[in-house]
Amino acid sequence: MCSIIGYYGDGPAAPILVRGLKRMEYRGYDSVGVATKSDHDIALKKGVGKVDDVNNALHLDNLPGHIGIGHTRWATHGNVTDVNAHPHPSSSGKIAIVHNGIIENYDELKADLQARGYNFKSQTDSEVIANLLQFNYDQCHDIKQSMIRTMSKLKGHYAFVAMFENGMLAAARYHEPLIVGIGKNGFFLSSDVLGFIEKTDDAIYLDNGEFVMLDRIGIQIYDFEGNAVKHQVTKVSKEFADAYKGDYAHFTLKEISEQPDTIIQAGDKSADAINTATDFIKHARNIYITGSGTSYNAALVAKYLWQKHAKIKVEPIISSELSFTPETIDPNSILIAISQSGESADVLEAVKIAKKANAKILSIVNILTSSLAQESAVVIGMGCGPEIGVAATKSFTAQLGIIYKITRKLCDGCINVDSTKISDSVGKVLSDQTKIKEIAKELKDVQDIYILGRAVHYPIALESALKLKELSYIHAEGIPGGELKHGPLALMDSSVYVIIINPNDFTYNDTLTSAREIKARGAKIIGISDKPSDVYDHWIQIPTIDDALYPLIEIIPIQLLSYYSAIEKDTDPDYPRNLAKSVTVK
Ligand code: AGP
Repeated sequence: MCSIIGYYGDGPAAPILVRGLKRMEYRGYDSVGVATKSDHDIALKKGVGKVDDVNNALHLDNLPGHIGIGHTRWATHGNVTDVNAHPHPSSSGKIAIVHNGIIENYDELKADLQARGYNFKSQTDSEVIANLLQFNYDQCHDIKQSMIRTMSKLKGHYAFVAMFENGMLAAARYHEPLIVGIGKNGFFLSSDVLGFIEKTDDAIYLDNGEFVMLDRIGIQIYDFEGNAVKHQVTKVSKEFADAYKGDYAHFTLKEISEQPDTIIQAGDKSADAINTATDFIKHARNIYITGSGTSYNAALVAKYLWQKHAKIKVEPIISSELSFTPETIDPNSILIAISQSGESADVLEAVKIAKKANAKILSIVNILTSSLAQESAVVIGMGCGPEIGVAATKSFTAQLGIIYKITRKLCDGCINVDSTKISDSVGKVLSDQTKIKEIAKELKDVQDIYILGRAVHYPIALESALKLKELSYIHAEGIPGGELKHGPLALMDSSVYVIIINPNDFTYNDTLTSAREIKARGAKIIGISDKPSDVYDHWIQIPTIDDALYPLIEIIPIQLLSYYSAIEKDTDPDYPRNLAKSVTVK
């Protein structure tokens, strides 16, 4: 999603902004731009492409001045073009803005402003903020008042930073993240602490419906009515500073490799919250669990585990579906929301709907300062450190790690969540990647991959398909083993690869039979199992572990396979095309 950044300080603004944008690249984007305030006017450069490429071509970091704003755009309204890239100047050029979010009523605002003589150059919804601010400023000649009037007209959700000709920065937050960084020699505004973590770890997290004004006098924060608001300065966790690749070729590989530690540490710092959550779950009449993408797949694993081991029924809901089926939520129930970022708009919307129905919100979230954490009665921190790769890897297994810890409590210790064994088993899969790399070479030209799993292995099949799609751009589909004969078998021929998730547990024999049926139709079989079989064209061996724990282990080779397939296809595994790390628009 778009990232916004602003800087007001003693240092040269442009290189600081470019560096901050670079650190937020993981959020996903298609174009980049910077504007600074020089002695006389606002200077601006922007273009389509990666931060480094656009910077090499246009020298964004050469713009003069000590005040500036910057942006990486993930297109929602209007094509990916230089003109649609941010910052957007107002038609007089006296104000420039960067924006993250969507302005729902931009059409009518634009028509009104055009009728009053304000010109628009781009196809974006964002440009309307620049001209609306300009219009209001032209009326009242007061930045605070023009901000209040502007926000009162905007519908949708947004965080924006505006730079005024006199050098003042003003920024507003409404259902999109915006954080103020307090440095020794300057202030920062950013969508993410990574935008300024190299310069300071002192931050103020603005609440929804607040705006901030920055100039040489300091910072003033207000609510949208203009009342002054006080905030504590928070220390940003130092772990965010570790968001470097180290010796790894990509963040994705680094994050896959961290899993022997991150799985077993998951939720360690939230022991009380896990106890409270367990108590709520035990006593709730209705339990819903929600998430998007990978986090939804983790929710599905919870359904299978809690049902099987604790006889507790939970209804998984894809977050984006709840807006269309709000009647699903019974009053006075609990909703467990799972999200790495805690900023997925669909998840936040689901939480809003559940709250309306008087549901209690429990969350499993990695970013503890996120909007989701703020909205939750109980927050379980995943504690797996920053995940930069757009494809969720260690965050998925951290979510599972917490779900397992809750399962053990729900069933009074009926499953043995043996940390050393889990960590060693994951380590073993990671220790020899030769075979996986060889298979990835073969997958390079494959069009379709199907992944089969039964019971709790079915959500792992879904997660595997998601990883393959995102990282290798190969069409992939997760199928519950028993459904094969009800349709997918028609697709099996010699051009197809099928991954069989087949640990030696209660699903083993049935899944092996499915593999034979597929093999008879000519498809190639990749078996993920602790037991060899002649049906597998390729056998990826996983260690034997307690039956209940297999899901934690079997996803690891598929993460690696997806990663190496991306390498074979020469695509960037950290930043898959068209995707964003946190999807903050609906
Ligand atoms: C996972 O690989 C994806 N990038 C995506 O499906 C992601 O899991 C989803 O957008 C949810 O994100 P969240 O966990 O931050 O809410």
